[in-house]
Amino acid sequence: MKEIKVYSNSIEETHALGKRIGELCDEGTLILLDGDLGAGKTTLTQGIAKGLGVKRNVTSPTFTIQKIYRGNMPLYHIDAYRLEGMNQDLGFEEYMDGDGVTVIEWAGFIQDLIPEEYLEIKISLLEENQRCFTIRSHGDRYDRFTEELK
Ligand SMILES: Nc1ncnc2c1ncn2[C@@H]1O[C@H](COP(=O)(O)OP(=O)(O)O)[C@@H](O)[C@H]1O
Ligand SMILES: [Mg+2]
Repeated sequence: MKEIKVYSNSIEETHALGKRIGELCDEGTLILLDGDLGAGKTTLTQGIAKGLGVKRNVTSPTFTIQKIYRGNMPLYHIDAYRLEGMNQDLGFEEYMDGDGVTVIEWAGFIQDLIPEEYLEIKISLLEENQRCFTIRSHGDRYDRFTEELK
């Protein structure tokens, strides 16, 4: 596991960080986002989508649980907030090591369903427009993120 911290002082900086993350993704990349409501999970995902070549605007999947976007490869955007306590097979595994990138907001709620290797991003709200992103690689294949995003 490697860990870095990246700071953002605006939505634009968060979008730019997300875009760089998106550009580093490949098929099967799994990104888990945690942080309070309004921390910036969806905002970061908008940047990730940009980096993946998604043209559509990314919005919060809270009410649909899952949204799929088409870019250079599919982006599976999941909000696990309403899945709290669920441990039954939701079929996520199929695409977690499949053909696209999976981004899960509130991943802490479905911990039992998460594979061993993933990129963990914890977002803390410091001030109105300032955020701290703690990025941790779980599994060697995710070390390039902590290397490249420094
Ligand atoms: N540096 C920043 N990075 C991300 N969002 C920011 C930043 N500064 C202010 N914000 C605001 O914080 C909110 C983040 O919302 P959102 O991305 O939906 O959070 P979450 O998905 O974690 O609930 C937005 O209203 C955004 O405009
Ligand atoms: Mg959100």
